[in-house]
Amino acid sequence: MSVVEEVKDRTDIVEIVGQTVRLKKSGKNHTGFCPFHPNTRTPAFVVFSETGTWRCFGACNEGGDVYKFLMKKEGWDFPQTLRYLADRAGVTLETRSPAQEAQDEAKAGLRELLETAVTYFRNNLLHSPPVLEYLRKRGLQDSTLESFGIGYALAGWDSITGYLLGKGHQPADLIEAGLTIERETGGRHDRFRNRIMIPIRDSRGRITGFGARAFDPKDEPKFVNSPQTSLFDKGRLLYGLDKAGKAIRAADQATVVEGYLDVLALHQAGYQNVVSPMGTALTVEQLRILKRYTRNFVLALDADTAGDRATLRGLTIAREAMDRESDPVFDSRGLVRHEGRLDADIRIVSLPQGKDPDELIAESPASWPELVGAAKPVVEYVMDRLMAGQDLEDAKAKAQVARQVLPLIEDVADPVEREAYRQSLARRLKLDERVLLGLRSPPGRPRRSSEQTEPAPILRTRWTAAERFCLGLLLRDPELTYWIDRKLHALELEGLSPLDFYSTDSQIIFQALRSSLAQVDEEPSHFWRSILDGSTLAQAMSIVDQLEPVDFDRPRVVETVSADFLRLRKRRVESLLEQLSFQQQTVQDSGEPTDQLRYLTQEAQQLTSQKRRLEAALAGRS
Ligand code: UTP
Ligand code: MN
Repeated sequence: MSVVEEVKDRTDIVEIVGQTVRLKKSGKNHTGFCPFHPNTRTPAFVVFSETGTWRCFGACNEGGDVYKFLMKKEGWDFPQTLRYLADRAGVTLETRSPAQEAQDEAKAGLRELLETAVTYFRNNLLHSPPVLEYLRKRGLQDSTLESFGIGYALAGWDSITGYLLGKGHQPADLIEAGLTIERETGGRHDRFRNRIMIPIRDSRGRITGFGARAFDPKDEPKFVNSPQTSLFDKGRLLYGLDKAGKAIRAADQATVVEGYLDVLALHQAGYQNVVSPMGTALTVEQLRILKRYTRNFVLALDADTAGDRATLRGLTIAREAMDRESDPVFDSRGLVRHEGRLDADIRIVSLPQGKDPDELIAESPASWPELVGAAKPVVEYVMDRLMAGQDLEDAKAKAQVARQVLPLIEDVADPVEREAYRQSLARRLKLDERVLLGLRSPPGRPRRSSEQTEPAPILRTRWTAAERFCLGLLLRDPELTYWIDRKLHALELEGLSPLDFYSTDSQIIFQALRSSLAQVDEEPSHFWRSILDGSTLAQAMSIVDQLEPVDFDRPRVVETVSADFLRLRKRRVESLLEQLSFQQQTVQDSGEPTDQLRYLTQEAQQLTSQKRRLEAALAGRS
């Protein structure tokens, strides 16, 4: 048994709740006035001693176990609650590992060093009139330069290196931070020379490294970034996000542009929901990070990258000149797939030929919203590009367009959307849709999952066993979460939520898993390990360890696990219905006012209809 369960086992929920709520015994259960909403008429709050749970059938309509009760009552987080109850029950807890602590400390040291560098570069800029002049001429105000911490690296070979060594920093740390390069022949020099320094911060505003633009137009390459370090991982950072996050949430939309300087110009012009990747193609991790803020993305791309050559070979933002060894190609097809996978809405707008957002803003700042508003869904965008300049009366041209667009449409996750695109394509090509259907799915292409046969359910004994099993699969393969979400959405049900789990610790582990899918710094499976508290972590690990070996064919696992979650939901609804009928009985027996009964009846109806929907979803699958 895990510590979390052991503590729960040794705790009497009636006693804990009884500390703050006057409970009255009523059969096997206890009832009282709910402490979470004001009421004095009906004791709608019930503690079920057998299952160790509580529930308010009144205004809150909420329930859970003893952890949840204390978290809600006291405003504690889970670790705090666990500590309190463990202490009370005489169970000892483990603490954070020394290795983890050492790592945290090393990162903190690195950040401090980089902050010193930011200040140093900033100071250089303020004392380099030509550079300052250049930036001002480009329309950047001093206040913008200051708020983004823009600086300048001097032209010499030993400026920041000498400065930091002089302050007592270790050479190894300078190298580790990416500020200094060690020569093979011995000796060291500054990595960034005669460059405009752009500090790159993570979503929480913590420094991670620099982007550096050549000041001398003859210098190649135009941009140099910090090397990969424990802090700087360009595939997982978005420039400007620390400043854009709030605006993205407020606008419920993130605009992705290509350049650092575009981000500066747009923010300065008041368009603050704008970020850029780090000189590489946009990665799926970056989209995932943005998904913490919104699910609506607009990619504002250069006319040439987006348009002429990119439509078919890829709507990538990357350029040949850049190193992109680790960047997955983000072509139109990739975008459509990720859109489904992330449950996102991705739109593309291409900028007028030869213009950067930076230049557009300088010419006419007010036209930006209109431009972004004209962004089109990926499929539409590709259709437009392919059809532009084609003679669509020509049968060969029609067939060519159709063959290129259809695979893209096939990848659209939403069936309704998919059908709409097919119709739109048919309309635009003046073809009968049935002709298009005949064109799709070249031989050998796997069928969609809905056409697959139902796999045998995995047998398990108990409810919690089922829950642990599903959670274990998700922990082992975090991406699975998105797949199951999609599956549930396709059934017109809500995606997975912590409430799909019965026990508070499972809920917390699942919450950690969700956060791990929406963060910058680490692999999801490392991340959930790093944020869970010792005993919850131990619990999560044991769930993974105890996982029976199962088929790892994703579509099949998705089918099976989605069905499991449907069953878990159904059981939850059923148990709520049982509890509800108990409460109805109690209210009836005590001759309570009828409005309370009416409320309970309504609630029961709602649960019953939910149960029907789940049953239908389960039945529709076989
Ligand atoms: P741009 O060449 O459009 O640069 O590259 P920019 O940001 O608009 O800068 P200005 O306006 O010329 O001063 C767009 C982005 O592509 C990456 C950088 O991230 C840059 O911000 N890039 C570009 C590189 O990484 N390396 C390069 O050599 C060029
Ligand atoms: Mn530019």
